[in-house]
Amino acid sequence: MTMTAVIAALALIIGLVLGLPQGNSGGNGGSAGASEGRTSPPWYPSPKGGTVDQWAESYGKAASLVRKMSLAEKVNVTTGTGWSMGPCVGNTGTTNVGFPSLCLQDGPLGVRFADSITVFPAGITTAATWSRKLMYDRARALGKEARGKGVNVLLGPCVGPIGRSPLGGRNWEGFGSDPYLQGIAGGLSVQGIQDEGVIATAKHFVANEQEKFRQLSEILSQGFKDVIAPLSSNIGDRALRELYIWPFMDTVRMGLGSVMCGYNQINNSNACQNSYILNGILKDELGFQGFVMSDWLGQRSGVASVLSGMDMTMPGDGLLWADGNSLLGPQLTRAVLNGSVPIDRLDDMVLRIVASWYQIGQDDASYPRPNFSSWFRTSVGPTYVGAGPSAGHSLQNLYADVRDDHHEVARAIAAESITLLKNINGALPLKSGKEAKKSIMIFGSDAGPNLLGPNGCPDRSCNNGTLGQGWGSGSAEYAYLVTPLEAIQAKALADRTMVEYVLDDYHYGRINFTAEKTPNATCLVFVNSDSGEGYTSAEGVLGDRVDLKLWHGGDKLILSVAERCSNTIVIIHSVGPVDMEVRSLNCLLFGRLLMGDKAWIEHKNVTAVLMAHLPGQESGTALLDVLYGITNPSGRLPYTIGKSLADYGPAAPIMMQPGGSVPQQDFSEGLYIDYRHFDRERIAPRFEFGFGLSYTTFEFSNMRITQTRAPTEFPPARPVGVPAPELNSTIPPSSELGFPPGIKRLQRYIYPYLNDTSITKSPEPYPYPSGYSTTPHEPSPAGGAQGGHPALFDVIFHVTVSVKNTGSVPGKAVPQLYISYPNSTGVDFPVRSLRGFEKVGAGPGETVDVGFDITRRDISYWDEKRGNWRIPLDKEGNIGSYEIFVGDSSRGEGVTGRTEVVQV
Ligand code: BGC
Repeated sequence: MTMTAVIAALALIIGLVLGLPQGNSGGNGGSAGASEGRTSPPWYPSPKGGTVDQWAESYGKAASLVRKMSLAEKVNVTTGTGWSMGPCVGNTGTTNVGFPSLCLQDGPLGVRFADSITVFPAGITTAATWSRKLMYDRARALGKEARGKGVNVLLGPCVGPIGRSPLGGRNWEGFGSDPYLQGIAGGLSVQGIQDEGVIATAKHFVANEQEKFRQLSEILSQGFKDVIAPLSSNIGDRALRELYIWPFMDTVRMGLGSVMCGYNQINNSNACQNSYILNGILKDELGFQGFVMSDWLGQRSGVASVLSGMDMTMPGDGLLWADGNSLLGPQLTRAVLNGSVPIDRLDDMVLRIVASWYQIGQDDASYPRPNFSSWFRTSVGPTYVGAGPSAGHSLQNLYADVRDDHHEVARAIAAESITLLKNINGALPLKSGKEAKKSIMIFGSDAGPNLLGPNGCPDRSCNNGTLGQGWGSGSAEYAYLVTPLEAIQAKALADRTMVEYVLDDYHYGRINFTAEKTPNATCLVFVNSDSGEGYTSAEGVLGDRVDLKLWHGGDKLILSVAERCSNTIVIIHSVGPVDMEVRSLNCLLFGRLLMGDKAWIEHKNVTAVLMAHLPGQESGTALLDVLYGITNPSGRLPYTIGKSLADYGPAAPIMMQPGGSVPQQDFSEGLYIDYRHFDRERIAPRFEFGFGLSYTTFEFSNMRITQTRAPTEFPPARPVGVPAPELNSTIPPSSELGFPPGIKRLQRYIYPYLNDTSITKSPEPYPYPSGYSTTPHEPSPAGGAQGGHPALFDVIFHVTVSVKNTGSVPGKAVPQLYISYPNSTGVDFPVRSLRGFEKVGAGPGETVDVGFDITRRDISYWDEKRGNWRIPLDKEGNIGSYEIFVGDSSRGEGVTGRTEVVQV
């Protein structure tokens, strides 16, 4: 009997009693989705883990341990115990072989729901530093805190959404609207977290670009009763690789332990059961050796998800929150017993999880167990909150203070990210001591505290007081938050300055009173714009932003102050770009032309503008550093600030109406998001991607380009990996899978056991997703190592430029390298694509050389027909010359050169 025949025969055994939903609107290339738009091709069977050298030892150890596990224990390793059934947001079941229940905890900027931790600056803020060192340092500190709290798997970094739309509610969790920047920051984050022995999670895989229509329960609760599945991101293979998969490649290349599949569909197949995305791209092409967990309730089927490459279900509950009915758990036990899920797939799921645990170093006896509770702050509380008080109580909160000196890295990032957008009349830096201005006036609620306290709103779902993070699962609880007002006041005494403030955003009368009476004052106006995750809202905004406007009438506040104060400095805390084009109040009354008014950004009294992003707990201290020149600003925009939403192109609006039973979002803009769109359409942004000023000036010169390797058009033949471990597991008799006698069953807790151990035979063959097969799939030519084919990371060119500080104070420059592909190839390319950046310090008059490596991937594109990365050739079969631009932004001042290519 062939394997397929065995499966077919065993499939007869399964019962419809399983009641497992078997797919979604399109399955994996199924017919239903075809009429709705794109479909996703089938890719089976799921590639096994343990095929790359660097993981071989861990897989060997994992195999020895998994061999000792019973079927129930294996299922436990793959299945969460249910929502709030343990201290963490995700907790896996137990085993008796020395493999612990794993604690999975958010998030990307701090250990969520925990006391005495650091709230680091958000991802978008970290990206704005353009500092590889700070990206790594933050992750390392975050990893250390997670470990200190007993977290095994940290649910970050977030490298998707990338920011296809500037309105995307969760863009701030990630690292900006360019795949290269997102990839470097994501890769360094994985490295930092895992260097502390914590398994990092790259999320959300993939093309999860808006909050609206992301989750069925939310969609239904918003009144869209006819919608039957989450939004499908319909996307072509090339943009998929070059924009959305790209950053994940970098995280996998760093030895990533886990990936979270998203809530959305990709080409009409759910992200957590899309065999092309998980089996094909992630596990085969990217050579991912860790495990795939579902986003919380992101899984929509049992068998189909498992066969498509999902390895762990979170939080365990399946279709509904906290009901204790898992799509894995006992269903997986049954599916293995009746053969609908081959046992070697279950073994691979477990091996991937256990091998990651070894690989990242958690088999160390000193690794702490969770010592906090996500659900309460008293030291003792219910052991299983979801099961109710009758399940017993235990000591859970030990209040471990894990902060060390991490406020320093938090402050350094918050300060180095601050992006100086405008600075005229010598407005900044402010003077200290005897030279200090005698009066500082502060305006706007964003300067001060939240009257409900820094953690007053659940998951930061309000915008009261200064904005340090967005809302949702990517937020954390402040141990303290230094507001700008506090920091500025603390300096006032030393400078003998008078500080006055109006924190009421709408109280203009008070501005009249204060500003006009003090002509020499420095006026600081604080404004913001917020967004978050779609399960909760703030001020009626349900996740995604509704527009690019400042909240709380911020434009009016700026203009009102600027009308009265000749030195108005604007500080913005924001999740992303904001509209700076709003014109003065007079113009609203009498018309712009008549009054000759300008956008507030151009107002003559708006002398400086600082984009301070989402700074986390060190908001005030970091701002003070920059305001007073202790830190020379060196932040650069990780996105474009356009003049209107329309300027961002067709990808900009959030899809607000479902347009049918399955919302279809076509990514028809392909590669052209953010600056790629502005460049192609020749639209002048207000501030371009990569822009940021300094208190000094820099000059870039003397570009030297050396070719280090002669490339072929395609990567060479894919290297062969090492064999995956074999387990030879036999399927135990179903009678062994009943509830063990004497077990105290907790309500809604997810066990691997069966109530009824009889396996009902079905007369029908098992309804596998179309295209399902157990015959090995042909491997992708683009694979062969973690992150993709190793040749993709071969350095082809080395570029050096000289950076000179031409000003009078020390500062940090951010030379950014953009390539322009040859234009004689017949392939469409963006005008410029970021392919390198560094951050370098230089004293006045000093010149520093900066080097950049350009790899094969950096000069390739994804050839959809060949299914591979390809270096474009011209008609004569030659690799053309690439233009290399190293500048201080994507369109700023810089130096340009051209490659001369020697090819094989
Ligand atoms: C989010 C994830 C998060 C998970 C657990 C989900 O709602 O999408 O990013 O890790 O919840 O809190």
